[in-house]
Amino acid sequence: MEFRHLGRSGLMVSEISYGNWITHGSQVEEDAAHACVRAALDEGVTTFDTADVYAGTRAEEVLGRALKGVRRESLEIFTKVYWPTGPGRNDRGLSRKHIMESVNGSLRRLGTDYVDLYQAHRFDVETPLEETLRAFDDLVRQGKVLYVGVSEWNADQIAQALKIADSMGFDRLVSNQPQYSMLWRVIEAEVVPLSEREGLGQIVWSPIAQGVLTGKYLPGQPPPSGSRATDSTGSGFIDRLMRDEVLSRVQELRPIASDHGLTMAQLAVAWVLQNPNVSSAIVGASRPEQIRDNVKASGVKLGADALRTIDDILGPVVERDPAKTVSPSSRP
Ligand SMILES: NC(=O)c1ccc[n+]([C@@H]2O[C@H](COP(=O)([O-])OP(=O)(O)OC[C@H]3O[C@@H](n4cnc5c(N)ncnc54)[C@H](OP(=O)(O)O)[C@@H]3O)[C@@H](O)[C@H]2O)c1
Repeated sequence: MEFRHLGRSGLMVSEISYGNWITHGSQVEEDAAHACVRAALDEGVTTFDTADVYAGTRAEEVLGRALKGVRRESLEIFTKVYWPTGPGRNDRGLSRKHIMESVNGSLRRLGTDYVDLYQAHRFDVETPLEETLRAFDDLVRQGKVLYVGVSEWNADQIAQALKIADSMGFDRLVSNQPQYSMLWRVIEAEVVPLSEREGLGQIVWSPIAQGVLTGKYLPGQPPPSGSRATDSTGSGFIDRLMRDEVLSRVQELRPIASDHGLTMAQLAVAWVLQNPNVSSAIVGASRPEQIRDNVKASGVKLGADALRTIDDILGPVVERDPAKTVSPSSRP
């Protein structure tokens, strides 16, 4: 496993992280979740990503139990706040009240005194940015959070936050967590150039497009049983990618993977890691052999020819519009 700095911060993260959305506390049983975490640790993954909202807060509990007994200083644990964690109108968003309450819940569920990175899961249009950033800064000073970042914020929102942090002397954002894969490149035009200038690193999610880039979903055929596309929660998220136009182009990537001695999943993860602004690719896995497969993408170099051929094959199914980075227009 190779390691990178999280943006311009001093924190090192494994360039492949393990995330537990959809899986822990939901799609997979507790023993499978623990086996995936164990496999990740065995393969050198030190960075783990979760969120208060995953599986209605159960995902943090599962991750906490799975990491129990592992030396805390050898781990980087990331979580997030914004999406609803309860029925109340203050159980959501980025108000000082919800941030302070949610972080305490996350720490209790994860069984730790601090998280390494605390991320605003989306932009909250109903809270003044200064209120959110001051609450984040207070958490850093209290030692409950070591670094702060955001997820799926657009370039304007990140720039506004940096301006406020600089003028108020608040701790600066060190990272953004966007969706990024061969199929979804909306951060390249605006978010990445700003982040490079300002020292934020991207911790990218769904680098395998939720399993689509493994090539296991074949055009015109039903999805394999036990896959995300057949899961009651997961299918709602992967559906937009399950179009024959996408699936058939993905099959055409097979020769590139085999020319490099890679599996399709490894090619997909290696592709996002070619972008130097990416600090880590967060992979998901419903079984340990997937994580063992995916981590072998660490350190792989893809040549310019391969990158060009990938662009030619995927062509019109690649999404590049920066306007696709959107947060809800009111609190969920
Ligand atoms: N910030 C955000 O808003 C946000 C949003 C989404 C995700 N995330 C983060 O990103 C993490 C990863 O997202 P993701 O799970 O969508 O990532 P992903 O790595 O693109 O997809 C993971 C899924 O693909 C399938 N898969 C993975 N490796 C495979 C292999 N080698 N062979 C066959 N199938 C394989 C598995 O699903 P099946 O076995 O079920 O098919 C696995 O659960 C999340 O856990 C979370 O931490 C963040």
